[in-house]
Parts: sequence; structure tokens; C-alpha cells
Amino acid sequence: MIFVTGGAGFIGANFVLDWLGATDEPVVNLDKLTYAGNLQNLSTLQGDARHVFAHGDMGDSALVARLLAEHRPRAVVNFAAESHVDRSIHGPEDFVQTNVIGTFRLLEAVRAYWSSCSADEQRSFRFLHVSTDEVYGSLAADDPAFTEDNKYEPNSPYSASKAASDHLVRAWHHTYGLPVLTTNCSNNYGPFHFPEKLIPLMIVNAIAGKPLPVYGDGMQVRDWLYVKDHCSAIRRVLEAGRIGETYNVGGWNEKPNIEIVKTVCALLDELRPRTDGKRYAEQITYVTDRPGHDRRYAIDARKLERELGWKPAETFDTGIRKTVEWYLAHEDWVRNVQSGAYRDWVSKQYGGA
Ligand code: NAD
Ligand code: DAU
Repeated sequence: MIFVTGGAGFIGANFVLDWLGATDEPVVNLDKLTYAGNLQNLSTLQGDARHVFAHGDMGDSALVARLLAEHRPRAVVNFAAESHVDRSIHGPEDFVQTNVIGTFRLLEAVRAYWSSCSADEQRSFRFLHVSTDEVYGSLAADDPAFTEDNKYEPNSPYSASKAASDHLVRAWHHTYGLPVLTTNCSNNYGPFHFPEKLIPLMIVNAIAGKPLPVYGDGMQVRDWLYVKDHCSAIRRVLEAGRIGETYNVGGWNEKPNIEIVKTVCALLDELRPRTDGKRYAEQITYVTDRPGHDRRYAIDARKLERELGWKPAETFDTGIRKTVEWYLAHEDWVRNVQSGAYRDWVSKQYGGA
């Protein structure tokens, strides 16, 4: 079996669903259920014995040690993190606590478990750390896309904390021999994306008749990857990645933010036209820029394609249409997330957690 952290969040939940769709190998899913963790994302797995959910913190060394000893996974995939750049600007401490200290404690618990394994188990074991392209900093308009050799130049508290976690993972390999893999992925989008991030925020605000807040001039560039393609990349790296290596993951879909917002508006005009006959783009509102806003990210994913044969299955056109359709078909999910109803359920279920 494999052990996943943060598997009730956006990418983690997509990964757990994707994994159990592709294989019968069970998953132990450790998630703290912060505001971003939502068990409703995994409701289709209710009663499925292949999914074992554990509520808790990856920084709780005793809990992680107990779970590893009990389930004896052959791999750990680490999604758990604080992930929103704007929140990191308002309150960086949680990001240091979770992304740096949490990853450190997880690495130590995994190292102790791995050291207790047989020589064969140690050889086949993997610790896969899921990271971000933001660790490489910001690109100028004509710079080449980030390769795995770019130096780390994180600019936000979020990206600095992720960069620190990447360095810890690297050091645990070089110093202790832990068999690690790291993936650095570009911006994901798709089902279960928390509506504080650009694409889901624009969809839910648009249909609620609210302003669509575009930071600064809207010409910042992000490189978008459909979340299920990220999941298939992680599966492939886990299967065949070279120990100690990092792999950049991206979809070759660089777009300025304003183009993304206009695309979402056009799809909504087609799929759910405004009742007053106006266009959703009329709701676009330029607002104050994010402090220290990185201008451009772009991922060169050729190493992953060359060495492991991975390529994304979705184009941006197919992925964004599926995403808008998913949000229109899951307004109950959006309502629950916005009302905090799922958190009420969690405190009922887990006694005030
Ligand atoms: P998310 O915020 O949607 O989910 C994070 C999950 O981690 C939540 O379920 C939360 O409850 C859980 N969590 C937080 N702290 C925890 C802790 N101490 N112990 C256990 N669980 C904890 O994040 P996401 O967008 O799904 O991102 C997942 C990972 O992928 C992160 O490491 C992020 O840095 C990375 N990443 C995200 C993107 C993106 O576009 N979203 C792109 C590249 C990399
Ligand atoms: O690049 C990978 C990263 O992508 C991940 O590591 C992060 O976890 C993930 O949150 C994401 O970070 P971004 O900051 O790029 O994503 P976000 O959706 O917050 O913003 C995307 C772009 O849109 C960014 O340039 C800021 C802009 N934006 C965002 C919001 C929420 C707006 O213009 N208006 C908004 O309201």
C-alpha cells in the first residue's frame, strides 16, 4: 500500500481517486483537514476498504510513526501543505510551521520507519515530495522556461517555505540515503479546486453575479496543467523516477491571467448565459496587485517526457471546458465549501477538530 499526506485537498483528492481508479493498491490518507481539506472530495470512496482515512497532522511524529508501523507502506507521497500565496502574505507563520517543520517531522518519521525495513523493502521504498514551480522565482517575458537546473529564487512566503521543504527532502537523501523523488509542477486546475484560487474563484463569482477581481494589469503569466495530468505524472515518477532526481511537470500552456478570465467568461456565456442577456466579462474588475507578484512562470517538462515518457492528455481547451462544466454540475459542493458546512460535519464527526 501507499501512504499519502494531504489527500483530502485539491490535488491529493484527485490523486487518491485517480490511483484507486487505476490500481487496487490501497491508500492510507493522512490529512489534518484544514480549511482546504474536504472529505466530501472523497465521498465516492465511502465504504471502499482500499481507502483508509486518518485524521491528523503530518507533524505529529507519534501518529505518523504509528500509522507507518501499522500499514507498512512501500511509498509515501507528500501533498500536505499550506498552498495559497495570498494567505502566506497575510499570515506566513502557518506556512513555515506546515511546509517546513511539518515536512521535517514527516521526513524524520519516514526515515525511522525506512531504517527499520528489510534491505529489500528499503531498496524499493520511495518518498515522493510534491512541490511547485514557484521555487524557481519569476521569469522575464523572453526567458526560457524553468528546467530542473534553474536555481531556487523563491519570492513569496509560500514559495520560500516550499523551497525549504525541497531542500530538506534533498538533504535527507544525500545525508541519510532516504530514496526520495521530487516533482515541481506548474499551476493546476480542475475538479475540487478550492474557490480561493484564480480559476474556481472566477467561475463561482461569475455565476453569483459578483466582481471578477483581476490583480494589477492581469498580464502575469501562469502555465496551466489539468490536475489529472499532474496525477498521472506523479504516478509515473513514483513508478520509474530515478532516486534523488527532481522532475518538472507542466502542460506547455502559458497564458496571461486576463486571458484565462476571459476564457472562463466565454464558456459561461455559452453554458450558463446571464439572465439579463449581458456578458460575464462585464463583471471583470481590476484590483490592487498582489505584493511581490511573480510576473511569469513556465515549465520545461522535457526531462519527464524524455526519461519517463510522460505527456499531458488534456489541452487547455479541453481541460478548462471540463472544469467549468464540473463546477456548474457541482454547485452543492461549492455551497458546502463556501458555507463551511463540511467543516461543521468534520467537527461533529471528529469531536471539535
Ligand atoms: P490544498 O491547499 O488544496 O490541500 C492541502 C491539503 O493538505 C489539505 O487537504 C489540508 O487539509 C492538508 N494539510 C495541510 N496541512 C497538513 C498537515 N500538517 N498534515 C496533514 N495534512 C495537512 O493544496 P493543493 O493545491 O492540493 O496542493 C497540494 C500540494 O501540491 C502542495 O504541496 C502544493 O504546494 C503542491 N502544488 C500545488 C499546485 C497547485 O496549482 N495547486 C501546483 C504545484 C504544486
Ligand atoms: O505555480 C504553482 C502554484 O500555483 C502552486 O504552487 C500554488 O499552490 C497555487 O496556489 C498556484 O499559485 P498562484 O499564486 O499562481 O495561483 P492563484 O490561483 O492564487 O493565482 C493565479 C494567478 O492569478 C496569479 O498571477 C494571481 C492571479 N489572481 C489570483 C486571484 C486569487 C488574480 O488576478 N485574482 C485573484 O483573485
